[in-house]
Amino acid sequence: MFIVKNKLVRTMKFLNLCILALGCSLNMAAQNAPVTPPIMGWSSWNTYRVNINDTLIKKQADAMVQAGLKDAGYTFINIDDGFFGWRDEKGVLHTHPQRFPNGVKGVVEHIHSLGLKAGIYSDAGSNTCGSIWDNDANGIGVGLYGFEHQDANLYFNEWGFDFIKIDYCGACQELSLDEEKRYMEIRQAIDKVAGSHIAVNVCRWAFPGTWARNVGSSWRISPDITPEWRSVKSIIAKNMYLSAYAGGGHYNDMDMLEIGRGLSQQEEEVHFGMWCIMSSPLMIGCDLTTIPSASLELLKNPELIALNQDPLGLQAYVVQHEGESYVLVKDIEQERGKVRAVALYNPSDEPCDFSVPLEVLELGGKVNVRDLVKRQDLPAVKEILKKHLPPHSVLLLRMEAERRLEPSRYEAEWAYLPCYNDLALRPKGVLYAPMAEASGGMKVSYLGGRKENYAEWNKVYSEQGGLYEMTVFYVPDKYRKLEVKVNNEKTVSLNKLEEGNGKSLASLSIRVHLKAGYNVVRMGASYCWAPDIDCFTLKRIGEPD
Ligand code: GLA
Repeated sequence: MFIVKNKLVRTMKFLNLCILALGCSLNMAAQNAPVTPPIMGWSSWNTYRVNINDTLIKKQADAMVQAGLKDAGYTFINIDDGFFGWRDEKGVLHTHPQRFPNGVKGVVEHIHSLGLKAGIYSDAGSNTCGSIWDNDANGIGVGLYGFEHQDANLYFNEWGFDFIKIDYCGACQELSLDEEKRYMEIRQAIDKVAGSHIAVNVCRWAFPGTWARNVGSSWRISPDITPEWRSVKSIIAKNMYLSAYAGGGHYNDMDMLEIGRGLSQQEEEVHFGMWCIMSSPLMIGCDLTTIPSASLELLKNPELIALNQDPLGLQAYVVQHEGESYVLVKDIEQERGKVRAVALYNPSDEPCDFSVPLEVLELGGKVNVRDLVKRQDLPAVKEILKKHLPPHSVLLLRMEAERRLEPSRYEAEWAYLPCYNDLALRPKGVLYAPMAEASGGMKVSYLGGRKENYAEWNKVYSEQGGLYEMTVFYVPDKYRKLEVKVNNEKTVSLNKLEEGNGKSLASLSIRVHLKAGYNVVRMGASYCWAPDIDCFTLKRIGEPD
């Protein structure tokens, strides 16, 4: 009996292990399943604004193929504002009588005949942005407002477009609608009439909120780009702390590219390189028939394109920030593998010396380094990466280590904040805020007050699982409370926080159990403000139970 029982126990243990292994490998497979990458293509707005026509669009589509950009991965030709004519008494939309006298269907057919995809533009309200900013009278009354189903049928079923960018000028200037509700109505109309395969871009010129991923595959995070260094720099700054919202085939859109429109070679490298490592859509905005050859070569750089189209679809995040310099990193090729992409970014007007301990990048042992812009191997490094960068420049690296190290610090500015948006709609909304004393120079402010307003780190990684000491660095304020949840199970409520002057930091340590693999950590306070959070660190102090 004893032997039989023993055998049974062994068999059960074996089966359990098999189920565990199967679960793990399914989990890994799900984690490593490729996602739809950011879209790549050309769009008419940056060079032509509303002055477009059918011949021009067809010529640009031809040039995209001839210049080798289609082969490099660029597939969309997007018609932006300017094609609108008028809406007739039945509500049917017509194209501009001079610019598109024969409609756009033929243009779409031409684009498709080249093996490319076609994108179109509209507004969530009644009037387009061009009607306001470019005095395009034909843009009045042609937006989607009140015509969602009819226009979706026309754009996607009759004309055959594959993508739509939905602007917000009309909706915010004349109608003052609720963004989330309005965009959801339009998404539902598109799904009903044409199908969920139609890609949507939300164009609200600021990070609109976490709802945007239910509407579109990308959303603009900034005002319109211009072909000037200060514009490129300000958009990168806007996207610096939005990595938590990209992922799973959804991307922060840094706007159409100004490559080939007068920036210096080095500034173009920053522009393209940062759009690539931040996984922004790559929509070329210059005249493809006259593009300078250096700009064309940059746009076709296969190693930078691979960085942007990487199967993990992640956005790089800031791991070191000193003065005006930034170091960003993201996993590529395999999650938590030994290969990572790194950007050393110097937006300042002065040269800058970078000194990056490799453990900050979670890389151990000897690390092979490749320059992705120059497409050259650089000398391997150990322990520290030191580089000197000129002003307005970036070094984009593929780094392959001997070992991947377990992270020990999680910044607040990496956290996913479900209630965050950058629309400045209400005071005291949760946000990422600068704080000189904080690690990385950033903290999260206005957490708590209600259950939903928390900060979440959903990839807190432990190699083997175990007991950890978690130290939370926060801005002390004795009237606030902090709730910490690990894997939605254990809640630690801390009611006795230190008093402070709002400028210095305090820390508190708690013991938490982490399972092997990814863990989810949440911080907030359900009924009163939580303190501002700088970061938390983890130190393993014991074996798993
Ligand atoms: C807004 C958008 C631009 C462009 C114009 C068209 O400004 O942000 O990208 O589409 O409208 O009028």
